[in-house]
Amino acid sequence: MSASERVVVVLGGAGTVGSGIVKSLLGKGFQVAVISRDGNRLEKLKNFVPESSRDHLHTLIGDVGSEDGAEEAKGALLKSVGKVTDVVSSLGFSWWQGGPPHTQTLKELHWVLETLLLSTFTSWKAFFPLVKDNPDSSYTFITGGAGERLLMPGTGFLTLGAAGALAFCQVVREEYPEVPCKLNEVKINMGVATPERLGLGYVSHLEVGEAVASLVEKRSTSHTVLCVNSATDLKTLILEGKI
Ligand SMILES: NC(=O)c1ccc[n+]([C@@H]2O[C@H](COP(=O)([O-])OP(=O)(O)OC[C@H]3O[C@@H](n4cnc5c(N)ncnc54)[C@H](OP(=O)(O)O)[C@@H]3O)[C@@H](O)[C@H]2O)c1
Repeated sequence: MSASERVVVVLGGAGTVGSGIVKSLLGKGFQVAVISRDGNRLEKLKNFVPESSRDHLHTLIGDVGSEDGAEEAKGALLKSVGKVTDVVSSLGFSWWQGGPPHTQTLKELHWVLETLLLSTFTSWKAFFPLVKDNPDSSYTFITGGAGERLLMPGTGFLTLGAAGALAFCQVVREEYPEVPCKLNEVKINMGVATPERLGLGYVSHLEVGEAVASLVEKRSTSHTVLCVNSATDLKTLILEGKI
């Protein structure tokens, strides 16, 4: 199957990490579909990708953060694009630093868990059945090292949500050891930003995008956690489709 015959849904594709992935996938000739709750973010995404690849970008307003919302978005997408061959799940948020836990509310914890963990589950539940039995398909989760440690004081709820996402990916790998679909997690133990906002310890979302696009294109590994600890790891992933 050529890249132009593959349709990759990038969940969170209008976000910082997701937009880099969308751009690289389009650059490789894939059809790419993005669902966002916000039409303005989708417009921004359309302007971010080269004009020459815009007819390969399919956008849809929707909320994959509930079972009904994810099913509805899936139905609308299948109606407009016809099929889904690959999924990249990059849902969540870039940063959360609301303070130490005793100053936070249950409402805030709910929001963090909904955004990082629950939407990852509800969208997976809707989209995984479309790809799981196909050896030419892939499902890739994007996670971060925040789930393993407190990044700095006041980021505790980020750790709770990110840890939930890490555990969910592990559960999926271990519950479905035999699925032929290439099931992987790219765990980025660094900050990710646009080129104009790069700081120490950050990598560009464009390089992350190239690395994830290469993983999706090559399909050379499965049930693997690909840990990105440096720009060199990204280069390896870009060249080889694995680390
Ligand atoms: N940024 C970093 O430094 C970094 C580093 C390592 C790992 N990561 C991981 O990368 C992932 C994405 O982070 P990011 O920095 O790209 O965050 P972001 O810029 O806030 O983008 C997150 C995307 O998730 C989407 N989303 C969340 N809930 C949704 C829902 N219910 N329905 C539809 N879309 C939903 C948002 O969509 P809307 O357009 O609808 O708002 C948004 O486009 C996270 O899991 C994060 O842990 C990020």
